[in-house]
Amino acid sequence: MTRARRGHVPYRARRATLRDGRTVTLRAVRPEDAGEIVQAFERLSAQSRYQRFMQHKRELDPHALARGVSPVPGREFALVATVPAYDGYDIVGAARYVASAQPKTCEFSVTVAEDWRGAGLAATLLRRLMLRARRDGYRAIEGFVLADNLPMLALARYLRFGVLPVPDDTTVCLVRRAL
Ligand SMILES: CC(C)(COP(=O)(O)OP(=O)(O)OC[C@H]1O[C@@H](n2cnc3c(N)ncnc32)[C@H](O)[C@@H]1OP(=O)(O)O)[C@@H](O)C(=O)NCCC(=O)NCCS
Repeated sequence: MTRARRGHVPYRARRATLRDGRTVTLRAVRPEDAGEIVQAFERLSAQSRYQRFMQHKRELDPHALARGVSPVPGREFALVATVPAYDGYDIVGAARYVASAQPKTCEFSVTVAEDWRGAGLAATLLRRLMLRARRDGYRAIEGFVLADNLPMLALARYLRFGVLPVPDDTTVCLVRRAL
């Protein structure tokens, strides 16, 4: 089966119960999630935004947002964790991958809302993401992490990623593992 054909298999939404007993729905991102993603970004602290984007961001870039909610099937993928809210639903976590510059390798990012941390949500999102990436034909997954982002480095080690230095930049690490 080709990578593109595999990628067109829809992702089945599922519920997940976190360690603290709260439940979320995990599903593939949709174009209509854009507004909720903006709201989720606005709820993040300045530090979380900096850790995620490695720069100070006051708002999401509209082009990056448009691309993020319409991943290229079989090549890119994004999962969101949603919970019911007064206006329909909130996004409390998200993880995505895109193709990296290295062959058969994808690059991930992950974010969990501050009041949903510490319950295993990021690990659940990344594990699901890795299964999908492998099915899409990737054989390794990697991500750039600020060297002082201890929660993300701990999460990476917990999921058995290797942590590697980035040449000529001591402020950033590369975390990487085979799929
Ligand atoms: C990093 C981040 C995604 C972790 O989310 P989370 O849902 O709290 O992580 P989990 O609960 O799934 O953690 C799983 C494991 O990772 C490690 N870990 C995660 N956060 C940790 C922390 N703050 N301190 C120590 N270990 C931590 C632990 O081993 C943990 O397992 P344990 O709770 O059984 O000890 C979250 O802090 C975040 O969104 N940060 C801002 C965005 C960011 O930095 N993204 C990464 C760059 S792409």
